[in-house]
Amino acid sequence: MMKLATVVLAAGEGTRMKSRLSKILHPLAGQPVARYALDIARELGAQQTVFVIGKNGDEIRHALGEQEVEYVYQTERLGTGHAAMQAREALLDRADLVLVYYGDMPLLKPESLQQLVDNQAQGRTALTMLTLVQDDSMGYGRIIRAPDGRVLEIVEEKVATPEQLAIRELNCGIYCFDGPWLWSHIQDIPLNPVAKEYYLTDMVGIAVADGKRVEAIASHDPDEMIGINTRIHLSQAEAVARRRINERLMLNGVTLQDPSSTYVDGTVQIGRDTVLLANTHLLGQTTIGEQCTIGPNSIVRDSTIGDRCRVTASMIEEAEMQDDCNIGPFGHLRPRARMCAGSHMGNFGEMKNSTLGPGAKMGHFSYLGDTTVGANANIGAGTITCNYDGKNKHPTTIGQGAFIGSGTMLVAPVTIGAGAQTGAGAVVTHDVPPNTLVYGVPARPQPQKDDSDKE
Ligand code: UD1
Ligand code: MG
Repeated sequence: MMKLATVVLAAGEGTRMKSRLSKILHPLAGQPVARYALDIARELGAQQTVFVIGKNGDEIRHALGEQEVEYVYQTERLGTGHAAMQAREALLDRADLVLVYYGDMPLLKPESLQQLVDNQAQGRTALTMLTLVQDDSMGYGRIIRAPDGRVLEIVEEKVATPEQLAIRELNCGIYCFDGPWLWSHIQDIPLNPVAKEYYLTDMVGIAVADGKRVEAIASHDPDEMIGINTRIHLSQAEAVARRRINERLMLNGVTLQDPSSTYVDGTVQIGRDTVLLANTHLLGQTTIGEQCTIGPNSIVRDSTIGDRCRVTASMIEEAEMQDDCNIGPFGHLRPRARMCAGSHMGNFGEMKNSTLGPGAKMGHFSYLGDTTVGANANIGAGTITCNYDGKNKHPTTIGQGAFIGSGTMLVAPVTIGAGAQTGAGAVVTHDVPPNTLVYGVPARPQPQKDDSDKE
């Protein structure tokens, strides 16, 4: 098998973003732009990936980590040819094929790059490049071909003649090289006297002068070549990335009522026959099962939702819903909230670091913090766990089948036994034994019959 290495050029300064953050670290559909370049390398099965980074390099390195990638620094920004030269030492004698692309083109499709790699792997050529045929030149270089169609050179727009400017075949800046040939000829790139840069595009003319073939494969999807230079480009890329995600979901059996108002990160997994209603945001490491209905107007981030759940106008963060649960409208699951199978949270409920047991119900205006609720318990309207004393958080335990009356204040730490009941408006400051009714402020058990009868 041939060894493939990828070189990602990412030393550009991105000044047009007008940002403190490196341009390739801006999020696109929930992931940094640069992450897409690594995903491509992984999908192509590259054995080695080298990121050429510049001034903001440390920030990029920190964000992407050291796992799947090596970094080399281009300390002076002397052009695309000079940037590629920086990877020579890391890849010399290590790769048969070297694929070069840009870190700021997150919409490149692995399929398109695979075509380049496959063509180059046949060994006829010194390099295979990706081109785009369209009227709008976008400032890209032009592909100059001989009358018989052979690729001869790339001419940058700035120096093109009027006849060359009329050429509609554009250079995308993406090339797959024969590795040994690249590293033995990249030093031949001359310094461009006008731009004072080394142009990687010169490798085409160098190959032709060396008696080698160059082939070009045309892409028909201009979206692939959207490069992030301004925040306008970023928003255009965001729309394309989201559209691709939504289309993938629909082809995999998820219904989207209104794709234009459905925002799903590429990291989210959704099962079949789940329906996403309008204005729904599914973010981060989120997994949703089959046959759920999510939305309208819901946000789910870094959470796990089982099968047949219903989420209506609610917010769910770092939480879990097991099968057959429903929440909303206007429920809020905060970090480490867990709804067990078949449980229900209605209007204006909030849970944090708490478990609502199987089949338990919490219908209206309640807050559970640091609480464990047993199976089939009922949390009455307006129940509040008073879990914070101003300094520390304290736990509350509610046994299975307990019935908490409306407006109960549970002053933690406190335990309500299985099958116990609290009266409406009770303020519970002491533990309640199983199967006992307490009421009042502070809540006490119902007096024994014989005590109350004595005068
Ligand atoms: C380049 C091509 C042009 C092509 C266009 C497609 C050259 C000389 N021209 O033009 O034919 O149509 O891309 O987008 O190659 N970079 C570095 N170090 C540098 C310079 C650039 O890492 O010293 C990186 C940038 O971060 C960027 C990429 O290379 O991601 C392309 O650089 P850019 O300046 O945009 O190239 P263009 O002049 O637009
Ligand atoms: Mg450019």
